[in-house]
Amino acid sequence: MDIYSIKAQLDADIQAIASLQALEDFRLKYLGRKGIVAELTGLIPTLPKEERGKFGQEANALKGRINELIAEKQRALSGGQDTKVSGASGNDIFMPGIAQELGHIHPLTQVIDEICAIFTQLGFSIVEGPEIETEFNNFTGLNIPLDHPSRDAFDTFYLKDYSKLLLRSHTSPVQIRAMKSRKPPLAIVVPGRVYRPDAVDASHSFMFHQIEGFIVDTDIKFSDLKGVLETFAKAVFGNDIKMRFRPHFFPFTEPSAEVDISCIICKGKGCSVCGRKGWLEVLGSGMIHPNVFRHVGIDPKKYTGFAFGMGVERIAMLKYGINDIRLFFENDLRFLRQF
Ligand code: PHE
Repeated sequence: MDIYSIKAQLDADIQAIASLQALEDFRLKYLGRKGIVAELTGLIPTLPKEERGKFGQEANALKGRINELIAEKQRALSGGQDTKVSGASGNDIFMPGIAQELGHIHPLTQVIDEICAIFTQLGFSIVEGPEIETEFNNFTGLNIPLDHPSRDAFDTFYLKDYSKLLLRSHTSPVQIRAMKSRKPPLAIVVPGRVYRPDAVDASHSFMFHQIEGFIVDTDIKFSDLKGVLETFAKAVFGNDIKMRFRPHFFPFTEPSAEVDISCIICKGKGCSVCGRKGWLEVLGSGMIHPNVFRHVGIDPKKYTGFAFGMGVERIAMLKYGINDIRLFFENDLRFLRQF
């Protein structure tokens, strides 16, 4: 065997290679266990002593050259990328993969989780209810007769073929469900979706989220409601906010109040976010109406309780300075990635 003719053959062979598979065959032909280079080095012991050194060096140089040629060819075949062929399959197992983008929790779910965590620390349990409700649970049980004017405030989607079923317009029907199925003392928060046929704009959506909360026990007072809500509001909006209770009307609470916090943007001085009022409305609340207790079979002489309900989107918008509710539902990643 003559190293020079091998070199010539080598060049012709490498030129002809057009696939990673052919390159692997080439590698085996020259560098394999029974390949040409192995054959050459096998000859060394048969040579006269004084020729062995030189021959060995040339065989080694040939091996180096073959490795270079393989590496070059491989780069050329894999589009200029420096990769390694893995075995006979020709698949390049070292090529970088296509990274999967990790998702994360939606900002509304983050706010729901945060609020629920505050209330669970205060001893509340989390309870959920169905989005399709009965008229009784959504209205009647909550002391809202069907012809009562307050019902206008809860414009409602009714199910077409089941006129007694509707998409709940607030989370308060879960008060009825929980009070019927459990015995006081109760301390419950209810996160969930609610529906109202509102035209969609920057501050309205036909679907949004509420968190309801209520406590029922033998000696619950309005001051308990104030204490719980103040703890909640400071945990969400910071310790330096002020709160105020504004008299209001809800059929299922008496007395009722809307709760405002001092504007977190202008600190109460008056700005465009709070409409120059210095206050932001965050939730509705009150002492549970005795008629609600009567509807669920709880004795209003023995038990009292408070309830409150807040809109999650509103809290999230105030907390993060978001000015359009539609952003939550459009799945625009440029928005969602900010949370
Ligand atoms: N359900 C009321 C609403 O949707 C909020 C509320 C809940 C008010 C509980 C008082 C007590 O507007």
